[in-house]
Amino acid sequence: MEPVKVAGDLYWVGAIDWGIRDFHGYVTKNGTTYNNYLLLDRDVTLFDAVHRDFFHESLENIRKLVEPKKIKNFVINHIEPDHSGAFQAFLREMPEAKVYLTERGKRGLQRMFNFDADRFVTVKTGATLNTGKYNLLFLETPMLHWPDSMVTYVRELKTLISQDAFGLHFASTCRFDDQFVVTYSEFELEDAVYDYYANILMPFGNLIKEKIEEIKKLDIDINIIAPDHGIIWRKNPEKVMSMYMDMASGKAECGVLIVYDTMWHSTERMVFPIMRGIEDEGVNSRVIKLRASPLSDAIKEFWKLRGMLVGTPTINNSMFPSVAQFLYHLTGLRPKQRIAGAFGSYGWSGGGVKQAYEFLKRMDLQIVEPGIEINYGLSLEDEKKCYEFGKSFAKKVREFGAS
Ligand code: FEO
Repeated sequence: MEPVKVAGDLYWVGAIDWGIRDFHGYVTKNGTTYNNYLLLDRDVTLFDAVHRDFFHESLENIRKLVEPKKIKNFVINHIEPDHSGAFQAFLREMPEAKVYLTERGKRGLQRMFNFDADRFVTVKTGATLNTGKYNLLFLETPMLHWPDSMVTYVRELKTLISQDAFGLHFASTCRFDDQFVVTYSEFELEDAVYDYYANILMPFGNLIKEKIEEIKKLDIDINIIAPDHGIIWRKNPEKVMSMYMDMASGKAECGVLIVYDTMWHSTERMVFPIMRGIEDEGVNSRVIKLRASPLSDAIKEFWKLRGMLVGTPTINNSMFPSVAQFLYHLTGLRPKQRIAGAFGSYGWSGGGVKQAYEFLKRMDLQIVEPGIEINYGLSLEDEKKCYEFGKSFAKKVREFGAS
């Protein structure tokens, strides 16, 4: 890639990771990008590093614009290694640069790297930095995504450099939202926003709402949002802000995700009549078979819909391992404002569905009990029960949305 002008004297100088498919367990089936930005001014400023494997790629982009040793300011908005991995390598190329970051960012980097602490300037919300023609405003955003996180606003360009927030894991030749929707589609863009938010930011909904409201109160115009992953929002930054506000408020489509696994197809055979019952109530449904799908896809689909039914066979008096993994992971994401139930099958002892409910009750969800459990195979009578279970659950999902 070449550097890409974002606005005025601000350039994207990042790297595209076409090949990554496992981002600490999150299946990035479209790859990702590590965006960093260079502001050419009297005091040249670099915003963020990149993943250490992509240091040379970003450095080459920078060299096409300026000698790295001329860089005066190095702003570190976030220290997770996908952004800070190349931090030290960049520092060596920029002997004059001062590093601007939060106190927590400094402490975190001190634990990760050896460096000269004199080069560090810690900033708080409201701190500013003049680079010549441009003025930067820093805003701390703790836990979005890590305690160290902050965002930087370039006042004259009305551009928010937002680190993880508003990002996407999507490698493409498109650097901007308007390009992306031509090459791909609005649906793929929205889907990628859901995917990223659900898998990375779901636990932090309340903080996200607070921060977006805080940004709005600052009375600053944001024409461009430049995150550290994926595309830059220049055509429609309001779209992603409004999607974030909706997601942070727990809004979701009136639909049901049926997420299941199966041993000998008994639990699987329950899915179709349940789904028919849901749809006969006029509620949409989607189905994810866990061993056939990345966990991150199941999390994304869960997040898009208001209701979830979890299907599990019983194995050794317990849930099926893939179902347990899904529910365990979902618990850590602290979902809210969703309604859930469970179904499944057993041979002799039972226990899988009971355990699924135990997991569901650890979350802040509305639980629909009892679930439905069948013995060995699906009789015609069982099929009718599954259909009625689906219908009854769908009614509750509709009511839940109306409350
Ligand atoms: Fe993209 Fe929290 O790092």
